[in-house]
Amino acid sequence: MEAVRIASECISTFQGSGQGPDRESTSPPRLPEHGPFALDDEPAWRAWRAAKLADSLPAAAPEIIDVADLAHPSADEIARLDKALARSNMALYRTAPLDEAGSRAAVAAFTRACGLTRFESHRSAGADGIVAIRVTDAPRQAGFIPYSDRPIGWHTDGYYAWDGADRAIQSMVLHCVRPGREGGVNALMDPDIAYIRLRDRDPAFVAALMRDDAMSIPPCVEEDGTVRGETVGPVFFVDPATGRLGMRYTARKRHIAWRDDAATRAAVAALVEIMADDPSIVRLRLEPGMGLLADNVLHDRSGFVDAEEPGEGRLLLRLRSYDRIALPPVEV
Ligand SMILES: [Fe+2]
Repeated sequence: MEAVRIASECISTFQGSGQGPDRESTSPPRLPEHGPFALDDEPAWRAWRAAKLADSLPAAAPEIIDVADLAHPSADEIARLDKALARSNMALYRTAPLDEAGSRAAVAAFTRACGLTRFESHRSAGADGIVAIRVTDAPRQAGFIPYSDRPIGWHTDGYYAWDGADRAIQSMVLHCVRPGREGGVNALMDPDIAYIRLRDRDPAFVAALMRDDAMSIPPCVEEDGTVRGETVGPVFFVDPATGRLGMRYTARKRHIAWRDDAATRAAVAALVEIMADDPSIVRLRLEPGMGLLADNVLHDRSGFVDAEEPGEGRLLLRLRSYDRIALPPVEV
């Protein structure tokens, strides 16, 4: 397959057929044999599903956790963050707005307080692992959708890479310094809920999306000349270190090849329907000082109108880590 040019952003402008390789293999998907994500372990699945749904909150009123000093969250604040993460794999917080430099320092300290130290190597990241997301015509960012005012479809971060669960993006922080003039709303969805909705519809859907060859990303050439080979991997996977569910996904239509069979096509179509209006989806616009601490949850971004004044445009700080969030234990 011919390599095409793309940067390692969630969303870019590359071309592709949208057709998966012709895979007529009838080899069964490799699925877990035990636990909630094994199709044959009905008791474990039922128990996990019931616990998950019992603990979810109405998305219309997501909890926003006030954190007085983001660089040094208190024990009570950590407990609240931890509870939110346990419930929905994401926690929304709000702290006093700071300027870009102050926000950056606070976010860097906050992420380390959350146990995140291994950050995605990204050509736009600073030494602290933080990437500034803003509209720019900088040579290495211009033309890529995250650095524009255009909408970004549903995805998990780093979906295009796959080298096993221990090299997957496990967590993310998205912190708002400035929101722009209007728009720029994020939708957020817990992948656990996406899995439940799919399996409730048809267990064959999750079986198809747990295949090792469910999703292929064609070869590409990074802007710095780095060549990345074709990536073939699952959508849903179980992290052997924790037994938790992970997810890789993009709603892109081009430059992605779904496994070319009816089961995968049906599963992907069902997932698109679910993400259109599932009641669990949180939609909000991050305001100055607000942020998201999350496992690698599904998210999108609506288009926005940016401020025209220099230095006033939308600015979010993003950080992706291979580490799982590990908040310090709270003494009670
Ligand atoms: Fe993203």
